[in-house]
Amino acid sequence: MKRITLALLPLLFAIASLAQNQAIIPKPASETWGTGSFILPSTITIVTSASPDLQRIARQLSERLTRVTGNKVNTQQGATALPQSIFLSLSSDGSIQTEGYRLRVTTDGVSLTAADPAGIFFGVQTLYQLLPKEIESKTIIAGKSWQLPVVSIDDYPRFGWRGLMLDVSRHFFTPAQVKEFIDDMVRYKFNLLHLHLTDDQGWRLEIKSLPKLTEVGAWRVEKTGNFGRFSPPTPDEPRNYGGFYTHEDIRDLVKYASERYIDILPEIDVPGHSLAALASYPELTCTPGKYTVNSGEQFMIWPGGGKHFYGTLDNTLCPANEKVYEFVDKVFTEVAQLFPFGYIHMGGDETARNFWEKSKQIKDMMKKEKLANLDQVQSYFVKRMANIIKSKGKKMIGWDEILQGGLAPNAAVMSWRGMKGGIEAAKLGHEVVMSPTDFAYIDYMQGDVIMEAPVYASLRLKKAYQFEPVPEGVDARLIKGGQANLWTEQIYNMRTVQYMVWPRGFAIAEALWSPKEKRNWEDFSARVEKHFERLDQAQVKYSPAIYDPSFEVSRKDSTIFVKLSTEISGLDIHYSFDNSFPDQYYPVYTGPLTVPKDASALKLITYRGGRPVGRMMVMPVAELKKRAK
Ligand code: ACM
Repeated sequence: MKRITLALLPLLFAIASLAQNQAIIPKPASETWGTGSFILPSTITIVTSASPDLQRIARQLSERLTRVTGNKVNTQQGATALPQSIFLSLSSDGSIQTEGYRLRVTTDGVSLTAADPAGIFFGVQTLYQLLPKEIESKTIIAGKSWQLPVVSIDDYPRFGWRGLMLDVSRHFFTPAQVKEFIDDMVRYKFNLLHLHLTDDQGWRLEIKSLPKLTEVGAWRVEKTGNFGRFSPPTPDEPRNYGGFYTHEDIRDLVKYASERYIDILPEIDVPGHSLAALASYPELTCTPGKYTVNSGEQFMIWPGGGKHFYGTLDNTLCPANEKVYEFVDKVFTEVAQLFPFGYIHMGGDETARNFWEKSKQIKDMMKKEKLANLDQVQSYFVKRMANIIKSKGKKMIGWDEILQGGLAPNAAVMSWRGMKGGIEAAKLGHEVVMSPTDFAYIDYMQGDVIMEAPVYASLRLKKAYQFEPVPEGVDARLIKGGQANLWTEQIYNMRTVQYMVWPRGFAIAEALWSPKEKRNWEDFSARVEKHFERLDQAQVKYSPAIYDPSFEVSRKDSTIFVKLSTEISGLDIHYSFDNSFPDQYYPVYTGPLTVPKDASALKLITYRGGRPVGRMMVMPVAELKKRAK
């Protein structure tokens, strides 16, 4: 009996390790798992057709396999598979959709077919996910058996626009860091990187005809702490924090991205969010004065209660000033030359108009152009942007405020203030990209504020997973897709960039790639945990907030009650009220807790199967009392 069990062990081991790999994100359109596996031979043969794109993808695959497995890889040109090989080929029979792929793993090898090179590229990303997690390692893993489970996968994306936005203005990220960001995106089949290149805190793109934009506008005072509440910079503080991309940097980034089937969407945010431009060229304002690049000190007031926000200084380009249109013409000329993508993003969000209201120039312009209100002034500006962008051979996209006062014909809308802007735009026949704050703002905290760097709102993974880009009642063909946006006011380094993107990026990737009916939270969250192991191998940081319980606090007379819940099942929450740190031998949560009258903190940690999975959480009783109100 014992001998039989022992004999079965390697088999059980193999089954367990294969099951580990049946956790693809985003979920394929169709997957059929077989039995057995293909074991990569010590010399791996990759066969591809003569297509230069496929040969480049084969080279990328070969480099990764060599670097991590240490096996030799031999790449050959050919029209048919060889035994025990990885065969990449294009098919023009119309049976595979754009960016889709057909992947067959048998005990005799791997065959990957697509209608276009992008499909092969995304299929290779799936191939990596079929291999043991160590394939994500940065260094060689010796002595491992590299096996892929037998499987048939037929897969294609639901949307053609699968984006992530990175704000490189609030904090600058170097070209090397942007490449790292791209490397992380492609694992999950994103195909669009939106770079938010300009804002009040920095202008990040060299414009050769306007050199001051980067001589002056790319630099601010370095501050650390809670962005938006920094002390105002003093004249003796150096303005040497920031940076920008040269034309050469951009050409290199565009090439790097295109070799990974990613388009780069450039955003130049006008007419608001323009302090960096005004610091460089103050003549572009309606409100003469001296401007400096913002270093994170407060200048925008959000009064709440439905009142319109306003600036304590004017951070807008003046729509009544012809010089402004000459300026943006120069900017968009160079932007259009640098970025091959068909769209240019003109921002258009959050324009504080309180200085326009007082401007004689604006009043004169309203009379001359017969504009009845500031919405129409804004719309006048947006329409001129659309014409300039069109004159460069590109299409304009902007944040949903570009709808105010009437949208330019053919402009596309990026809906961020919920889905309603996108719905309105689609009903008017415009293309839409959905990136609503409620589901896709990954600068928001992903857990409780006691655990996270403070931001004004939260977005947990489970909520992000409910992102559905196509609202009812609109023409689905106008919804080009969606994206998650990472604003970087509170993000000072790449580790935090990663932490904020993952795992919510998994949820967005699946919402944009997988068939709607394939999405299932229980199934997804189990896969997420498998991918945490992959990110560990890749040395990519991610948030473990899915293990943090949520608190629901209530009060009856002077007694406080705390109800705890978790996004994923199967967790044990151990807790204490006595200021000591709980472990698995502490009481386990089974129902609402009564806070002892004199307790000062509730401490919690989650376990599964006797192993800690969550973080130690310390919830002050004072905070519970605040929430119970
Ligand atoms: C935005 O979040 N202001 C587009």
